[in-house]
Amino acid sequence: MSTSKHSTDSHEETPPCRPRIGDPLGRALMIHGGFRHERQFPLYIERDDGLIIEIDIGAFLQDEADWAERYRWALSRSTGRVLDIGGGAGQHALALQQRGLSVLVTDTSQGALEVCAVRGIEHTALVSIDETPKALSTYTFETILLLGQNVGLLATPDKAISILRSFRDLATPETRILCDTVEPLAMCAFSKPYVQRNLEAGRYPGQARYRLRWRDLGTEWFDYIYLTYEELKLLADESGWVIADTYHEGAAYCATLELRNEREKSRAGTAATRTRSRQVIS
Ligand SMILES: C[S@@+](CC[C@H](N)C(=O)[O-])C[C@H]1O[C@@H](n2cnc3c(N)ncnc32)[C@H](O)[C@@H]1O
Repeated sequence: MSTSKHSTDSHEETPPCRPRIGDPLGRALMIHGGFRHERQFPLYIERDDGLIIEIDIGAFLQDEADWAERYRWALSRSTGRVLDIGGGAGQHALALQQRGLSVLVTDTSQGALEVCAVRGIEHTALVSIDETPKALSTYTFETILLLGQNVGLLATPDKAISILRSFRDLATPETRILCDTVEPLAMCAFSKPYVQRNLEAGRYPGQARYRLRWRDLGTEWFDYIYLTYEELKLLADESGWVIADTYHEGAAYCATLELRNEREKSRAGTAATRTRSRQVIS
């Protein structure tokens, strides 16, 4: 039997490995982009079952030539005023801006938006996806982007319906939502037990809870979702949208959502007329 005070104390004094809540992604992006001169550390995403995966920060700052084909497909379908939700370091926004479109990037990472500004993105706003229609109630957009698998930001099936419904307030009759995700049932072998637990608990297979970590910084835990084509179709239908077409690329796919019918389009037309006189973004 050990009576060592040292071993007991050192165990008790070890602080819990809780991250300091901050902006891990923003910090990592600023260093990676050369906008902050500090030592870089890996950026991790941690799932609530303990799985930890390193995120490739370079993937946020790719040139168009390096993008997966579905992003080129999505951008070729982008017109008018564009809202890039969860736009990160602005790689898609920048390409559209260079084509002469007016783009507003929103994100919850202050650092990511600072990187956007340094890279020349003209319009940015620090706002969460669920607050966006309220925060931007004086605007309408012809294109709403949820790229980089940002379907995930819809978080849960219930939240997805409420967020997609609220996007109708930002819409004109012609608005398209361009969004991408990965088929959850095609996820890596090590995620199969997690997917199985979701199914057994009556959740969608692709529901997950994550947090980001960079050195001692972390985000709060957040809900995230990967949707099958059928699930996205169902949730879109519940919220006034319809899948107009898709581009499949392995297990990933990009979808175009349009307003479901003439009633939704006419509602959007009325809202667009109301807001047009208040537009700030040309
Ligand atoms: C996977 S990245 C995609 C970034 C970008 N769309 C791209 O493809 O390069 C997800 C982005 O969403 C942002 N984000 C996370 N939660 C969000 C929320 N609730 N509302 C808006 N943006 C959010 C993150 O900060 C991050 O920049």
